[in-house]
Amino acid sequence: MSIKIKTEDEIQKMRVAGKLAADVIEMIQPHVIAGVTTGHLNQIMHDYMVNEQQTIPATLNYHGFPASSCISINQVVCHGIPDDKKKLKNGDIVNIDVTVIKEGYHGDTSRMFEIGTVKPFASRLNKVAHECLWLGIQQVKPDATLYDVALAIQTHAEKNNFTVVKEYCGHGIGADFHEAPQVLHYTQPELKEIILKPGMVFTIEPMINLGKSDVKLLADNWTVVTKDRKLSAQWEHTLTVTQTGFEIFTLRTDEQPVLPVH
Ligand code: MF3
Ligand code: CO
Ligand code: CO
Repeated sequence: MSIKIKTEDEIQKMRVAGKLAADVIEMIQPHVIAGVTTGHLNQIMHDYMVNEQQTIPATLNYHGFPASSCISINQVVCHGIPDDKKKLKNGDIVNIDVTVIKEGYHGDTSRMFEIGTVKPFASRLNKVAHECLWLGIQQVKPDATLYDVALAIQTHAEKNNFTVVKEYCGHGIGADFHEAPQVLHYTQPELKEIILKPGMVFTIEPMINLGKSDVKLLADNWTVVTKDRKLSAQWEHTLTVTQTGFEIFTLRTDEQPVLPVH
């Protein structure tokens, strides 16, 4: 499938959708504390999307996914199902991933949260995963390739002795939740042929593991965990290629571009 170039009108709608997705993540932040259930967090976000934003939670019923967000704790890599019986506890690291639809267009973003005091290695994993996202984003400009994006991410992860998940990737996004291209976070020669052009819109969402890169799908057919049950971290933004570089649609108000300290 070829990669769609969005019109200026579509870009404007995606700017709006992206901002709304970022707003959901900002809204939920003070609620992400020890003792709260992931089911309750999902309910707050669902109500906010539907009642305050008049957005559609894109994950709800998406290929049968049963919730309005994905909440992935510790060894859960992605697609964690919110659960009224699952409480966050001190020391957990948690990814919350939300996708909204507004006027037919999607905005998709996620971030890590730390509950109370987390182990230094857990904090470092979160930080490096965040840096991986930003290093990938900083490759984005006309005539760069998705190989450049993947290389920046993989190099930084491996330099820190972490690994990159291969089974799940970023994606083109627009009127469809997931469309071409697949945005891999590890290098493959074929990626050199995917040349970035202004008006392309996609996500970058590296999943970085503390141990081995292998993952396993649980029996619920959604929850993805690390095979070695060590920690995994993920951050995600939706962005477009501009004439000179990139524009991030899902930037939060508190967020500064991140550059790793070498
Ligand atoms: N938001 C996820 C992504 O970044 C997709 C979740 S699909 C679901 O692409 F069905 F698991 F919700
Ligand atoms: Co995504
Ligand atoms: Co997402």
